[in-house]
Amino acid sequence: RNIVIFASGSGSNAEQIVNYFREKESVKIVAFFTNNASAGVIERGRRLGIPTVVFGPEAQKSGAVLQMMVDLKTDLIVLAGYLKLIPSEWVSAYPNKIVNIHPALLPKHGGKGMYGMNVHRAVVENGDTESGITIHFVNDKYDEGQVIFQASTAVESFDTPEDVQRKVQVLEHKHFPAEIEKLLS
Ligand code: GRF
Repeated sequence: RNIVIFASGSGSNAEQIVNYFREKESVKIVAFFTNNASAGVIERGRRLGIPTVVFGPEAQKSGAVLQMMVDLKTDLIVLAGYLKLIPSEWVSAYPNKIVNIHPALLPKHGGKGMYGMNVHRAVVENGDTESGITIHFVNDKYDEGQVIFQASTAVESFDTPEDVQRKVQVLEHKHFPAEIEKLLS
């Protein structure tokens, strides 16, 4: 089974996924895709030996990115810190085969613009006593697809957004690879 991973930023989740499947020969991470030429995931791809495609909005609009995924015989599209909206052509070409991880307990703190530290700041400002991760199928609206998995962590009154981000990232790295494996089995 072939997985492609889309990331716009550092790519720590992408690296965790590659490491998790390294010994499992039935699953292969065939490529990283990024829309951001300065994304940390590019360096990770180089170090991990994963081909990385850097693409612009025209490649997405023209269908070139979709064609590359088809040519790679992609079985599952994993979004790990990918910040662009997924074109509806991709959603219809890969029904229930595009998954995203959101660093909060959706439906709280989701939607366009709610990514990275914005989410953890909102949790702290809201006085939430817990946060966590949501892994969900992707449809053509931000963070609104069917939920697959959620895990939560306590948020203390003195926690900063950075504290929340650290706790949430532990959950991401712990659960995302295993939830992907479940989807592929
Ligand atoms: C994570 O917070 C993830 O939940 C969100 O974007 C961030 C990606 O982090 N979707 P990284 O690039 O995998 O380190």
